[in-house]
Amino acid sequence: MDDPSFSVEVNTNTQEILLAASNHDLAALKPFLRIPGNASVQDPETGFTPLHAAIAACEKEENGEEVDIEKAKEVVRELFLSGAIWNDLDSNNETPGCLAGRLGRKELYELCVEAGVRAEMLLGLMGKYEVLDSESEDEEEESVDVDAINGDEKKDVNSADYLASDLKFSDDKLLDADNNGVMMAWETSIMERSVASLLPPGEDKGKRILNIGFGMGIIDTLFAETQPAIHHIIEAHPAVLAKLKEEDHPFGPKWEASSPEQGAYKTYEGKWQDVLPTLLETGYTYDAIYFDTFGEDYSALKLFFTEFVPGLLDENGRFGFFNGLGADRRVCYDVYTRVVECDLVDAGLEVEWEDVEVGKLGEEGEGEWEGVRRRYWTLEGYRLPTCRFLS
Ligand SMILES: C[S@@+](CC[C@H](N)C(=O)[O-])C[C@H]1O[C@@H](n2cnc3c(N)ncnc32)[C@H](O)[C@@H]1O
Repeated sequence: MDDPSFSVEVNTNTQEILLAASNHDLAALKPFLRIPGNASVQDPETGFTPLHAAIAACEKEENGEEVDIEKAKEVVRELFLSGAIWNDLDSNNETPGCLAGRLGRKELYELCVEAGVRAEMLLGLMGKYEVLDSESEDEEEESVDVDAINGDEKKDVNSADYLASDLKFSDDKLLDADNNGVMMAWETSIMERSVASLLPPGEDKGKRILNIGFGMGIIDTLFAETQPAIHHIIEAHPAVLAKLKEEDHPFGPKWEASSPEQGAYKTYEGKWQDVLPTLLETGYTYDAIYFDTFGEDYSALKLFFTEFVPGLLDENGRFGFFNGLGADRRVCYDVYTRVVECDLVDAGLEVEWEDVEVGKLGEEGEGEWEGVRRRYWTLEGYRLPTCRFLS
């Protein structure tokens, strides 16, 4: 790399590749793409990859001319075939999919989503989900968590660190020691809809319920209102567990003592990974199972519904989870919706999605987000999953 002529050649190549991509000139582009890495070169200033260039050139009626979208699609397909990366960010913090979405180019957006699904599924098979780094490179990053998969793995909040960290409790949020939002009150409407979909009104009384992750107890309060026959909670964080031991806590000793039968209302202490093998041995099955943890990545959720849900869910039961995968970027949310759908089918489960309006949440650092390190939810809609065994 010390040879200056080499770097000039590389730079020239980059510009030529980007130009061919933006002209949707497949014939000019193809020879470049034979060289590994060329499909994902980046302009040092704009951060544009050939995908960005090809998509940006589709800004509607540029110079009064209609864009030939079929040619653009061919170029985008060829780039993906040649190893282009679906979630590289440009200097405007946009993936090619974000750009296609912003420009209203649905077909190109769809190609990006499909490529994302293929890439993530492949990485999943290799046992490693790569998740998109969200903001600019140097920004402090938050967790890869099932609430908001959007982390740069270097700076993840991992489960072990989270479980060892102090927590800050307040009326409208639960924060970890780094001010990451573990649970926030704005999620209440999502919890309400989740309970309604797991235990439809009218057929909700006297059911057997398992909830993983107590958090602020929002969903457990709603579950308790249905007067369950069995209500089991699994919680791992020592600070949350300490609260649950307080004499007057709504899910404290008095709640456990109010069980219709011995052990019917109970909090199991520890990580679900450790508790569930024993619980499975007891032969309990549930009508409703909900999963919402923190500090864990998608592979944990997948392990849960692949290895444990089949043994724990009644044959007519329903399983739900907090669907926060990729929730601070539409294209990631769409990719993960499909990834999880495929993995659920592999686990013998079918999923129904319900769109829930989240409403207008405050801006970064404002309102509910004040004091929260990162606004982990930016989408207006929540896609609520309800799963049952495949019929
Ligand atoms: C997002 S909160 C749950 C919020 C809850 N749905 C509510 O309505 O308030 C996540 C909870 O999962 C717990 N948790 C994280 N990892 C866990 C694990 N491996 N096993 C059990 N609980 C875990 C956290 O301590 C936290 O209390």
